[in-house]
Amino acid sequence: MSIVLIGFMGVGKSEVGKAAAERLGYSFLDTDELIEKSEDKEISRIFKENGEEYFRGLETEVLETLQNYDDFVLSTGGGIVLKEKNIGLLKGMGPLVLLTARPEVIFERIKSVNNRPLLETGNKEDKIKEILSVRDPIYNKAADLTIDTSDKKIEEIVEEIVSYAQNKS
Ligand code: S3P
Repeated sequence: MSIVLIGFMGVGKSEVGKAAAERLGYSFLDTDELIEKSEDKEISRIFKENGEEYFRGLETEVLETLQNYDDFVLSTGGGIVLKEKNIGLLKGMGPLVLLTARPEVIFERIKSVNNRPLLETGNKEDKIKEILSVRDPIYNKAADLTIDTSDKKIEEIVEEIVSYAQNKS
């Protein structure tokens, strides 16, 4: 069994995923990293040169290549749930753990980093709220477990995921 982390940018999927993988003795994988490696290009450049649709296609390709592997924690790009097909592919790997955070917490965490192409236009905080209002129902519907990370330490979040995974297996 593997564990899949979904949720918006800045909720801590990568940091939490790495720590959870270590605790469980699983490998850690990250769809954004796998895409950057296979394309030999940063995500922001892929968005700029090839567009969002192309990027979304790459996300599906990556998920397809992971179907035959097991025992990993997968951190996913925040928009991976936008394609229903991806949700099916993710569900085939293991439970979907949704990490959330209040919009203002997300903003504080990512305001100084300019590697999120979808937030580069206009007011970042408004953009976060706008995208969240579209995605929240999709995230919630897909999730098997939801953890609000707003006021939690990384270790607490990891602990929740580890005990959830151990009960499942
Ligand atoms: C995106 C989130 C990013 C990355 C890309 C698009 C999104 O990943 O996949 O910039 O649509 O929310 P993170 O959630 O890891 O930041």
